[in-house]
Amino acid sequence: MKKILLTGANGYIGRRLKHALLHVPDISLRLMVRNVESLSNNLNVEIFAADVLRPETLDNVLADIDTAYYLIHGLNNGNFKELDRQSAQNFLDACIRQNVKRIIYLGGLGDKVTGSEHLLSRIETGEILSSRPDKVQCIWLRAGVIIGSGSASFEIIRNLVQKLPIMITPKWVNTPITPIGVDDIISYLVNSLSIEPKENLMIDLGEETMSYGELMLRVGKAMGLKRTLIPVNVLTPKLSSYWLALFTPVPYSVASSLIEGLKSEVIVTNNLRHMYFSITPRTLEECVTTAIKEIESNQILSRWSDSGSGVWEIHHQYDIADALFIDRRIVALETYSPEQVYKSFCKIGGAHGWFGYDWLWNIRGFIDKLFKGAGINRGRRDPEGLRIGDSVDFWKVVDLVENERLLLFAQMKLPGKAWLEFKIHDGKLVQSAYFYPDGIAGRLYWYILIPLHYLIFTNMAHSIIKRSSEMNR
Ligand SMILES: NC(=O)c1ccc[n+]([C@@H]2O[C@H](COP(=O)([O-])OP(=O)(O)OC[C@H]3O[C@@H](n4cnc5c(N)ncnc54)[C@H](OP(=O)(O)O)[C@@H]3O)[C@@H](O)[C@H]2O)c1
Repeated sequence: MKKILLTGANGYIGRRLKHALLHVPDISLRLMVRNVESLSNNLNVEIFAADVLRPETLDNVLADIDTAYYLIHGLNNGNFKELDRQSAQNFLDACIRQNVKRIIYLGGLGDKVTGSEHLLSRIETGEILSSRPDKVQCIWLRAGVIIGSGSASFEIIRNLVQKLPIMITPKWVNTPITPIGVDDIISYLVNSLSIEPKENLMIDLGEETMSYGELMLRVGKAMGLKRTLIPVNVLTPKLSSYWLALFTPVPYSVASSLIEGLKSEVIVTNNLRHMYFSITPRTLEECVTTAIKEIESNQILSRWSDSGSGVWEIHHQYDIADALFIDRRIVALETYSPEQVYKSFCKIGGAHGWFGYDWLWNIRGFIDKLFKGAGINRGRRDPEGLRIGDSVDFWKVVDLVENERLLLFAQMKLPGKAWLEFKIHDGKLVQSAYFYPDGIAGRLYWYILIPLHYLIFTNMAHSIIKRSSEMNR
């Protein structure tokens, strides 16, 4: 039985690949994440905690592994180029030490001449992982724009197409790209386990090349919408990034890296996929229909905002204990059960709103987007259920204990660190906002917001109890 390691198992691609690998016969699967809590442990698989930037954590994880998937990347770090380089080298070295036979890596389409910083870093990662064919074989798959529920590029396109019948667009809409459906990527990744090439391979994925403009119009058509694009010269990359950040769920950092990437042609340059795989990729229209179905039925398996983005490096439990400011509201559960109250506060954010004063939250979200933060329109993966690692507008779920506790960590731009906790204790709902300020600016921020916090948090605790009546026992 082949032993397979899946790194990045809580990321956008990783979660979906995990799902698919669970159905592959004759393999034994091991998952690697930085925070084991970010994966549910009801699966019949091993879950190991390790960090590629801490090489000493890798040997244990890679022991006895035949093939390792490398799906790690740290786009959210300012210093991502250096960190991605180090990560890949650490991983390759550990694979060599542990006699791993094959690495399967998914990178991006594009070339070194026109590639964005992000793309060049992905290419460098592939080159490092492929640099010791004498010791470890590397199957390097390359994909461009991903069409699928929860993909950042697809969420941008879908939001623009849905909201704007006429779009003034920059000239980049003429750049050619080869999109691909997320399920097809997963099929190629799974099938890469069983192909038997003698050497390293670099395989480009995707069939139909088109311009961004054509992609947007065809996505619109598949959604039953007729759209018009008017390309103009005046939209700079910065302006376009702000535009995307404000009108779609992605923050400025993701929007600008996507916009930067639009300069480069992300198209397939080889046909090796036909030689090694017998997979018939779905058409763009089929991918859009599937994605929309998944979104409408709350069946989004993973989302671009799933990965930790630095939140696992924080010791939330210790840091909360050190918080200098706490706003606490304690409300009796009345006639409601802990299950009902838990369900009620777990509906926070996204389309359900923030239990009142949503206009204030929206203003805060708008200001956050202006300052390049996550923003309130990031939404949530599933309006009903939550899991650790899910984003909830500009918060992130960092702890979740059924019928007891929900802990959210603030990912908005703040002069300090903040948490929002809902806890059921002794027949009461204990709602606490914690703030650990950075210097004077942090302290001022907290004092200025005291009147607003009074309004928002008092109302929130009472509304959670009130809305518990709508929850089934
Ligand atoms: N998504 C796309 O649209 C797309 C398109 C083309 C190609 N690709 C390629 O597909 C691959 C996977 O992308 P993705 O979108 O799934 O990425 P993602 O959602 O951002 O996930 C990245 C993963 O890397 C993990 N990670 C980050 N730093 C780590 C560290 N120091 N040690 C261990 N794990 C670490 C994250 O875990 P934490 O939770 O611990 O941070 C997360 O699981 C990338 O190579 C990407 O270039 C993606």
